[in-house]
This record gives sequence, C-alpha cells and structure tokens, in this order.
Amino acid sequence: MMTTTCPIKGFDHLEFYVGNAKQASFFYANCFGFDQVAYCGLETGEQEKTSYVLEQGTIRFVVSSALSPNHAIAQSVLTHGDTIAVVALAVADVNTAFEYAVIQGATGVVPPTTQEDEHGTFKFAVIHSFGDTLIKFVDRSSYVDNFAPGYNKLVARSTKSIGLTQIDHVVGNVEEGMMNQWVQFFIKTMGFDLRMYFDDLTIATEYSALMSKVLENGDKTIININEPAKGLRTSQIQEYLDFHHGAGIQHLGLMTNNIVQTVTKLKEAGVEFISIPQTYYENLEDWVQEIDISVEDLTRLGILVDRDENGYLFQLFTKPIGDRPTLFFEIIERRGAQGFGEGNFKSLFTALEREQALRGTL
Ligand code: FE2
Repeated sequence: MMTTTCPIKGFDHLEFYVGNAKQASFFYANCFGFDQVAYCGLETGEQEKTSYVLEQGTIRFVVSSALSPNHAIAQSVLTHGDTIAVVALAVADVNTAFEYAVIQGATGVVPPTTQEDEHGTFKFAVIHSFGDTLIKFVDRSSYVDNFAPGYNKLVARSTKSIGLTQIDHVVGNVEEGMMNQWVQFFIKTMGFDLRMYFDDLTIATEYSALMSKVLENGDKTIININEPAKGLRTSQIQEYLDFHHGAGIQHLGLMTNNIVQTVTKLKEAGVEFISIPQTYYENLEDWVQEIDISVEDLTRLGILVDRDENGYLFQLFTKPIGDRPTLFFEIIERRGAQGFGEGNFKSLFTALEREQALRGTL
C-alpha cells in the first residue's frame, strides 16, 4: 500500500468539450492569441471526435467536439453546454498518482495507460472529480515534439500572442453544502493543502453570497472550490449550477505580465468584460500612486486593483464566453500579491449581479 502521494508538477492542459471544436479553436486563436499546435480528427484517422490543441506561454487548451450523438462529448455538451470537462495535471508517475488517488477514495475512469509512437512514450490515467469533471494525470517526460499520440502537429502561427503566460488558478463551483467534501477530496486523493478560506461574510453583497476555499499543490497548481451561500436572492454560483446542470469549472485565472497590453488586445478582438462602475476608481487615487499603471488606464480598461502585505494584483473578468452564464476567464497580473482580489469581491459581485438581473436570474 502506498503511503505518499505523487506531487503535482502543474497544469498539463485543460480540455473543453464544445459543440464545434473548429470554431472554438478559431475563437481562442484569434481572440485570445493562442497558437493552434496540434489536431486530431478524421484526417488523422480519428473517427469519434475532433480536437485542436492550443498553446500560449505555458497554457495549453484542448477543444474537442463529438462526431456522433452518443459520444461522451456530445452528451456533455447537451447537458452542460460548452464546458471545461478535463483538468489535466502533470505528474512524475502516473501509476503512483492514480493508485494513490483510488486507494484514498477517488473513482477511476481510465486506469494507467501507456501510448507509444515515433515521438516517444505518453502515459495518462483519469479519475472522477466534482460534477462530471475529470482529472487526468499526464506524464509526457518521455514524449517530445507533439501533443500526444494520434495528433498531428500544426504549423504554429506565433504572431498573435496577447501576452498570456500561465494558468494562475482554476476555480470549480459545487452545490451548496458540498464545498468541504470536495476540498477534502483534493487533499486526500492528490495531496493538496488548504491555503485560504473566504466565508460568506467576506463574499457577500446585499443580495447573494458564496463561500470559497483555495487549494494548493506545490506552488504551481492552485484550485479554488466555491459553493453558493444563502442570500436574499440567487447566488451567482447557484446561477452557474442551474445553467451548467451541476458542478463544474467556473473560471480560469490566466496570468499576464502586462495587463494593459493584454486587455487592450482582447478588447480590440471583441472579448467582452464585466463593466465596473466609475465610482470604483474614485477612491483608487488615494493608494495606487506607487504603481506604474495610471488610474486613467485602469479606468479606461475597467481593471480592478487589489493589494496585500506582499504587493499588488490587477485583474478583470470576461463575461461568460458561451451562451450560458457559466464559464468565464479572469485576466490577472501579479506584482507580489498572493491573494485572489478579496478587496474587489464586493464591487465585482455587485457588477456581476447587475448582469444577472439583466438575464432575469438574480
Ligand atoms: Fe479567480
């Protein structure tokens, strides 16, 4: 019996199950500046699904769609709409990671599997997580110059990067009362540590509330788990659960080293962001003099600022990227601060509730 968990080395990739992988790939390439680096589909001998692999910095997305109605991806899209279905974690040893997780209570989906082709040996295994979300353990240390067996490399078009560098954090929404159970799942089965906790008093507006716990594995893998809390009206987390039809990934924090440039390019490409009321910027003048982004730039682009004892962070949030009010992205630049924008929760969630009210779901 194994007594130690297998350390997580970081996010290997995130796989989106979507209705149309070709168009989703085009969206991430042309609006978010990703390079399309690999493809699998009919032309590569794959009969069941189509996948495109996209990269920017160390961020890797896979967008996949089904070629028949009975495929698991088609079933997922029917229930959840476009969603992040697979969180792939890089590990040194797939067997150890999988066996330890299963001994600790995780449900195995795909046992440790080894694939080989001319690029080397690719190993993976899959377990279940909250909702229909899967965790995939990946070891590509002996696999080079391609995404995975079955994929064809595409000629990378590396001209469109908008400066995104890495995944900062991944956030999941679970049902009311289920946060602690899923937090324990990540601690027990994969050796995550609990780093921070925000209760419904920290994250509450006049109308709605949520609770959130931050899990960390090493210094590169951060997963936050939210659950809705009781308020006068519907929590934004409950709205997600209602439209996603169950727990799932709510947002990704994508890091940049130049948020003004990144957000400018995203807006030029037509990406929509949650708009922040002008009043937010009025008292910002008092304490942001020492940073080198002007209040005028922050106001014009609608960027939020927060600080802790270690420094600053800048962030802003896209509107939902699909038709349902479910998945969205956060763009974040850190200048030392280790938090998640706690100081912005109130103004941000008030802004989110204005959008919820427009949808008639508040
Ligand atoms: Fe976030």
